Amino acid sequence: MPARRLSPSDDMSRPWVADTHLQGLTETFLRSARIAVIHAGDSRAPGAVLRPSTNFRPWKSYKAVAEDLAAALTRLGTRDVAVFAEDMMLPERLRRHGTDFAWLNTAGVQGAGCAGHAAAMMEMLGLAYLGHGPLMGALLDDKAVFKRQLIALGLPTAPALSWQPADGAFDWRTDPRFHHAFRNWEGSFVVKPVNGRASLHVHHVTRAAELAGAILDVFDATRNGVLVEGYLPGREFCAAVCGPAMRRNGQLYHGEAPFVFSCIERLLDAGETIFASMDSRPISRDRIRPLDPAKDAAVLDELTALARRVYRELSIETLVRLDVRAAADGRLFVLEANPKPDLKAPSPEATSIIAEGLAASGMDYDDLVFSLMADRLATGLSGLRGDRQHLAALAGL
Ligand SMILES: Nc1ncnc2c1ncn2[C@@H]1O[C@H](COP(=O)(O)OP(=O)(O)OP(=O)(O)O)[C@@H](O)[C@H]1O
Ligand SMILES: [Mg+2]
Repeated sequence: MPARRLSPSDDMSRPWVADTHLQGLTETFLRSARIAVIHAGDSRAPGAVLRPSTNFRPWKSYKAVAEDLAAALTRLGTRDVAVFAEDMMLPERLRRHGTDFAWLNTAGVQGAGCAGHAAAMMEMLGLAYLGHGPLMGALLDDKAVFKRQLIALGLPTAPALSWQPADGAFDWRTDPRFHHAFRNWEGSFVVKPVNGRASLHVHHVTRAAELAGAILDVFDATRNGVLVEGYLPGREFCAAVCGPAMRRNGQLYHGEAPFVFSCIERLLDAGETIFASMDSRPISRDRIRPLDPAKDAAVLDELTALARRVYRELSIETLVRLDVRAAADGRLFVLEANPKPDLKAPSPEATSIIAEGLAASGMDYDDLVFSLMADRLATGLSGLRGDRQHLAALAGL
């Protein structure tokens, strides 16, 4: 099969090769598997949990997106797709349904490390799933732990300090960790929750003297750890990155490097320092701009290389959306890698960052769903997740 180069935002150094074998296996798998798409259960619903506890991460059900994914799987040929809530009744629902494979579109119900709970349950049940492993899901969702990984790996990220109540009252003048982290810093700051989402409780703080108050505000709102970060005043970008499988125009391609796509700029209004929460302003087409392969070539190259490094160096196994912001001089710094990026299917009113950027790679929503499945199948069939036999049987091998 001849090697083909794709668009400039794809990897120019390594060709992508049509992979009809993996494509056929994925098609068979999708036709034969009973699939459950899982969204977050509501701890207040009757019988959902033994006892409602604390939500360190602002809760969201993600049910509408689970339904979008289920609809795409149905269009792709899966005959039996269920949508289930993650809660204590989930194992029984999976058993009754005879689920072969789960797609995790949940960040948890409640409690600590909740972004890893559904994956932990799947591991315990022995059910194959698409999603990060429990450790990776929880790690990526914790901005302080993720930050420490970035720093240890030498990946570019703004200086930061995490705070929790055991550290005692914060005083920037005397805190040695603050002076160490921000020793060469002349800019302003961001104070945000370690387990945040959708820009909730993110504050821009201009003076060090105001940090203590902002830290307490975030702590009061979340009862969880707080991250103080250097404020990056430049442009803001996102890039999706997943394993090296990608379908476009009905053909699956396989590459050597992680697939980086949906590279967009988040457009900030004049004076908007923090990108407004999608809870208050849905992602509309005037808030994001797909990067142009010609005009934005330099930033696309830098973003693509950065996304690949984060994916590979942290050993990430499936889709994340990397959020990146530029310093005043234009250099890019990683803000976070979202372990469960919004995969809302595009509609006339609203869209998701990832869905909106697909066209630049010649893909649509169903291509993305197929690609993620193909990549997961490839990982499973290589024996890396302990479910090779089960997946092979469903793929007709
Ligand atoms: N260090 C920083 N410098 C500049 N802006 C920042 C910084 N950290 C966060 N922000 C702003 O706050 C927004 C939200 O921050 P971040 O991406 O870290 O958390 P989040 O709430 O999980 O985001 P998301 O909306 O992607 O779920 C960013 O999109 C950005 O506009
Ligand atoms: Mg973000």
